[in-house]
This record gives sequence, structure tokens and C-alpha cells, in this order.
Amino acid sequence: MYKMIIMKYDFDRIIDRSGTDAYKLELREKTFGKPDVIPLWVADMDFAAPPSVVNAIRERASHPVFGYTVRTERFNNAIINWLKNRHNWEVKSSWLEFSPGVVTGLALTVLAYTEPGDGVIIQPPVYPPFFSVVKDNSRQLAYNTLVNKGGKYEINFNELEELAANPKNKMLILSSPHNPVGRVWTKEELLKIADICLRNDLLIISDEIHSDLALYGNVHIPVASLSDDIAGRCVTFMAPSKTFNIAGFSTSYAVCSNRELMIKYKRALNRLHLYSGNLFGGVILESAYEGGAEWLDEMKVYLEKNIDLVYDFVKNRLPFINLIKPEATYLLWLDFRNSGMNQKELKSFLINDANVGLNDGLMFGEEGRGYMRMNIGSPKKIIQNALENIEDAAKRKGIV
Ligand SMILES: Cc1ncc(COP(=O)(O)O)c(C=O)c1O
Repeated sequence: MYKMIIMKYDFDRIIDRSGTDAYKLELREKTFGKPDVIPLWVADMDFAAPPSVVNAIRERASHPVFGYTVRTERFNNAIINWLKNRHNWEVKSSWLEFSPGVVTGLALTVLAYTEPGDGVIIQPPVYPPFFSVVKDNSRQLAYNTLVNKGGKYEINFNELEELAANPKNKMLILSSPHNPVGRVWTKEELLKIADICLRNDLLIISDEIHSDLALYGNVHIPVASLSDDIAGRCVTFMAPSKTFNIAGFSTSYAVCSNRELMIKYKRALNRLHLYSGNLFGGVILESAYEGGAEWLDEMKVYLEKNIDLVYDFVKNRLPFINLIKPEATYLLWLDFRNSGMNQKELKSFLINDANVGLNDGLMFGEEGRGYMRMNIGSPKKIIQNALENIEDAAKRKGIV
């Protein structure tokens, strides 16, 4: 059931992004070998940002001096209020620190809290930089692979317990909500994760960039909000970037109540001189959190409708695809394992026959074999076209 909201924002409008150097468009040829695939890959959306954000950028841009700026109390207050109102999480100003990006933040924690050769646990299939921030810094990956139980992904707690007990492993990088499987971890799951980590003296680095995008009534819980003890072993990364489709700006931040951990994080940030951010990042975070809530509520309803559209289409017309509705995010984890195609054939089918650009499941680890990730953060018409393309191609191939 959709909430009764009279739509004020027009998410159906197709906005031409050509000429804006959009990653999603410009790197199509290089990535897919074709310049015109329908781009449903990189995780940004094709919607206009909230008016509060666009207006704040315009207003600031009307002043022609763009020198160095600082983040003021307003920046931290915007975060404090947002976390209180949207996630029922009370944080203090001293717990907040800027991060140039969430991925940069993850890399900084690897540098700050581990030594070369140490182990870092991740839960594949998972967002590709979770692998690279560990490997690129000469640390070892430890895999706590998620288990697909009849379509619902669950954590293998026995394996996590074993990995945590190995003193080589120093921290867990958690994707919460999880990209790409779309799980919103429940309170019970988070408490179990935290219990294992705390008993084994492991840090939890919680990437909560998708926290504002919990859908269908699912409620995101910041793991650090569960208790002071958990918060004391946790660094959380958040941002308005995915929430409000402003990923091209530097708007992320770390939350950490443990002073010692915070000092180490800041040291890593300072050592690389990454503390400045940019002037628009500050303006934009404030305008998004202060004035974007209504836009977000509508946008989430739109996302749910797009997901429903794909779900019904796949169920009725593309039975070789299996889709479990995500509990959060605008990213769908499509299971093609019943299609009879291997990964190479599947990619060729989607790109060359259907002219659709999705993320290859293998980017998210070996567990992604047979899967593709589809971004539905676009006007409905574009999603509908992509689905019809896949159906036409499947008909030509005799798959449906
Ligand atoms: C789980 C997750 N973390 C981080 C990011 C990117 O964060 P940033 O652009 O702030 O580095 C993404 C983007 O898709 C993501 O899905």
C-alpha cells in the first residue's frame, strides 16, 4: 500500500543529462562497448535534486567569490537534527567529522585502525570498493559470505564468529542497508553482529550511505545507536549524497562517539590533507537536510512504484529472471541463474541484444555470478523501455 501523498515533485520528467559529463552516460562506450545502452548502472539517479538544494546552490553561486570555507555549527546541527528526526539517533557535535567521500572514509579507517597484513571482514556480494580499500592498502580480505536463503540474503553468523575469533582480523566493514542485496538489517541481526564483534574486540565500520532509502516500511537502524558499548567500537559513515541525488558533491561524514577512534580517524584524514572538502558540499548538505525531507518521502514512494513495476514485469513476462524486492535502495539484484546463459552470454544478451547497461554481478564478488544489478532511480518510462527491450531480445532468442 502506498501512503496517500499528493505528488508535488515530478519524477516522471525525463531530464536530458547529455552534456553534463555524467559518468553514467559518458563511460558507456568504455564499459559496455556501446555508446547508447540504456544506462541503468552507476548508482546515481536521473531525478532533479530537491528544490531546496538547487536554490541553495544558485544563491551561493550568485556570490562570485569562491574561496576557502569552513563548516560551521549549522553543518553539524543539520546532521544532528537529521539523524534525530529520521533515525531516532541522538549524536553530539563532537562525534562528527567530515569525510571527503564514504569510500575515502572507509579507506581512511583501514589506514587508521589496521596494519599491513591485518584482516578485514566484508560480506560479499558487496559494493566493489569494499574489496579495493582493503586490498589496495595491503590488508587481507576475510569473507563472511551472505547466504541466499530462497531469495532472502542472510548473514552466516557461525562463519562471522569464526572469522572474528581469528586475531588477525581487526575489523568488519558493514554495508547497512546492504548494496547490492538490498537488505535492511534488523535489530536482532545488528545486535548479533555487534555481540560477535565486541566479544572479539573487532571494530565495526558501518557504511550507512543508503540509510535514508529504506523502503516498504522497513526501518533502518544505525548499528551504533543500539548501545553505548556498540557505539564505542563503531565508526559510521553517512551522507545525503544517495538520498538526494547529489553524489557529485563532497557531503559525507563520519560519526564516532569513541574519542580515541575519532582522534585516529582525524589523524589519517590530516595526514593526507583531505579535511577541506569544498564550499558547495557544505551548502548542499545543509540545504538537503534542512529542506529535503518532503522531496525524499515522495521520491521513496516513486522508487517503490518503480520496483513494483519491475517486479510485476519480471514475474509475468520475464520468468527467467528472479527478483526479490529490495528492502532499501534503488538498486535491484536480478538473479539470472535460471536463464541458461553463462556470465559472458548474459552480458552480451543485455548489451548487444537488449541494449541495456546493467552492473555485472561479478563486480560484487564471485557470489554475483549469474546476477546483474539494475538501477531503477529513473523516470518510469525509461525503466519500462529497458524491460521491454529485454523482453523483445528474449523473444528473439526464444527464451520467452
Ligand atoms: C555502499 C556504498 N558506499 C559508498 C558509496 C559511494 O560513496 P562515496 O561516493 O561517498 O564515496 C556507494 C555508492 O554507490 C555505496 O553504494
